[in-house]
Amino acid sequence: MSIETLIKEALTAREFARASFSNFRVGAILVTQNDKIYRGCNIETSSYGLTVCAERVAIFKAVSVGEKEFKSIFIASDSEKFTTPCGACRQVLWELAGNIDVFMINRLGEYQKSSMKELLPFGFDKSFLI
Ligand code: THU
Repeated sequence: MSIETLIKEALTAREFARASFSNFRVGAILVTQNDKIYRGCNIETSSYGLTVCAERVAIFKAVSVGEKEFKSIFIASDSEKFTTPCGACRQVLWELAGNIDVFMINRLGEYQKSSMKELLPFGFDKSFLI
């Protein structure tokens, strides 16, 4: 899929967000090395701390069906700013997907490209465990 198509997919994934507490909808599209895509959206409940971000929904869906190799993630929200993954999602993406490309998309469909290594320099992972 082209970057333009994946941006549209991320904006569409946002439509499924359950964000009635923050009113901030986020959609994520995770792309595997074999060009399969996994969609995620943020999911909130009235016990606010149980919220799960769109990025983690997407990667947990993929990992739970055996996916291990990833290329990129596309993240879109309702903001005019480019939607950047939160700290918790950076840790999870770094550990489970590695140094993938990260496309941060605003509500107009414009994007800024980065990488996990840029977003999480000196990231902790299992290589540190003794
Ligand atoms: N959120 C995401 O889903 N991804 C991000 O990258 C930033 C934040 C969600 C969590 C919460 O449901 C809402 O956006 C407001 O923080």
